[in-house]
Amino acid sequence: FSGPPTQLNNGDSHSTPTSHPIPPNLDSLPSMPPIPTWFLLAFFLLLTTLSTALSRTHRHQQSCSSSCGAISNITYPFRINSDPVECGDGDYELVCEDNQTMLEIGHGKFLVKNISYAENLIRVVDVELAKGSCGMPLTVQFDYLLIGDNRYMLTGSTVESVYVNCSRKVLNENYTEVPCLSGNHSYVYVVYDYSLSEIIASLNESCEAVATVRSDKVGRKNRSYENIVKVLQSGFELGWNIECRDCHRSGGFCVHIEHSRTVICEKTDAAEIVHLLINLISTIVGTLFFCKLLCSGIDI
Ligand SMILES: *[C@@H]1O[C@H](CO)[C@@H](O)[C@H](O)[C@H]1NC(C)=O
Ligand SMILES: *[C@@H]1O[C@H](CO)[C@@H](O)[C@H](O)[C@H]1NC(C)=O
Ligand SMILES: *[C@@H]1O[C@H](CO)[C@@H](O)[C@H](O)[C@H]1NC(C)=O
Ligand SMILES: *[C@@H]1O[C@H](CO)[C@@H](O)[C@H](O)[C@H]1NC(C)=O
Ligand SMILES: *[C@@H]1O[C@H](CO)[C@@H](O)[C@H](O)[C@H]1NC(C)=O
Ligand SMILES: *[C@@H]1O[C@H](CO)[C@@H](O)[C@H](O)[C@H]1NC(C)=O
Ligand SMILES: *[C@@H]1O[C@H](CO)[C@@H](O)[C@H](O)[C@H]1NC(C)=O
Ligand SMILES: *[C@@H]1O[C@H](CO)[C@@H](O)[C@H](O)[C@H]1NC(C)=O
Repeated sequence: FSGPPTQLNNGDSHSTPTSHPIPPNLDSLPSMPPIPTWFLLAFFLLLTTLSTALSRTHRHQQSCSSSCGAISNITYPFRINSDPVECGDGDYELVCEDNQTMLEIGHGKFLVKNISYAENLIRVVDVELAKGSCGMPLTVQFDYLLIGDNRYMLTGSTVESVYVNCSRKVLNENYTEVPCLSGNHSYVYVVYDYSLSEIIASLNESCEAVATVRSDKVGRKNRSYENIVKVLQSGFELGWNIECRDCHRSGGFCVHIEHSRTVICEKTDAAEIVHLLINLISTIVGTLFFCKLLCSGIDI
């Protein structure tokens, strides 16, 4: 390979200050002390070590398998908070609490009911609903939790339902009263399989929407509270996809190919440039920070 050396030499001679005569007026200015080669070497080694360490955290160990309560064989990409660091992917950490496997998304907390590694689906239920038939979802607005979360996505088979709290009785076939939450001049209803925007558009002044919950789609026919609460308590599925997560991270957006788990990562030029700029700026800031820390401590 004979081409590059001449180019490299050219580049070198341009960037090495010693190849240019130093203008005499520079002598009078306080000059930067020369950075010793050993320091540059040490810095380079440090960077290399850091990047190796970072890439190691991305590597997964297939052999890790934990269990917590009803969920056995928790493997990559999932990990349990008590697993050794090399297990799973840090983004997919589950918490084992009182023998129950919990998934936390933002301020939301969900009991894990099942994990399908074959389909990349995790079935979860709001922790308050999981407790009993009188639960009021902990999550006020579920879909908001997923905005900006690169790890999980809704699947097409879930529907949104809305909990409504009213100061007057509502006679509407689509509103199912939650007897155990109603009381003293307050009437709590769950409106199954209606989105928050639909509900808000038709909400009476005596009512306010207080929570939304996701669940499986079973049809709107049987609107008894017993039936609805059974459906809500069986939870819903969230999809996950590591490639999509990485795609979003790098500023792209992820396109699923129907009937297949393969994804395409689409990147607009603008997203790519923004991502490159962010990387560049953080590298420069990081380098300056390291240098400030280290250079000031060294007596040259
Ligand atoms: C945890 O859950 C598993 C499976 O449900 C059960 O076999 C085990 O006895 C439970 N352990 C404790 C300490 O509750
Ligand atoms: C655990 O899950 C992994 C990956 O899904 C699978 O290959 C393995 O056979 C499972 N092991 C048991 C004991 O179920
Ligand atoms: C998870 O779902 C699969 C398939 O539907 C089922 O065979 C398995 O028993 C479920 N596991 C738990 C813990 O519910
Ligand atoms: C419903 O609203 C009333 C009045 O604001 C309040 O006292 C009650 O706690 C609310 N119920 C629920 C379940 O949020
Ligand atoms: C209930 O929902 C159905 C379907 O959206 C709608 O046609 C009907 O008017 C609703 N009932 C009331 C009383 O709002
Ligand atoms: C009505 O509200 C008061 C004060 O919040 C409470 O002490 C009382 O138990 C409630 N009554 C019923 C029937 O819910
Ligand atoms: C709001 O109140 C009106 C009149 O009381 C009633 O006809 C209508 O069905 C109510 N809307 C909803 C969504 O309950
Ligand atoms: C609705 O569901 C409840 C509970 O699953 C059941 O007891 C009831 O018979 C059902 N009603 C109809 C009309 O299907």
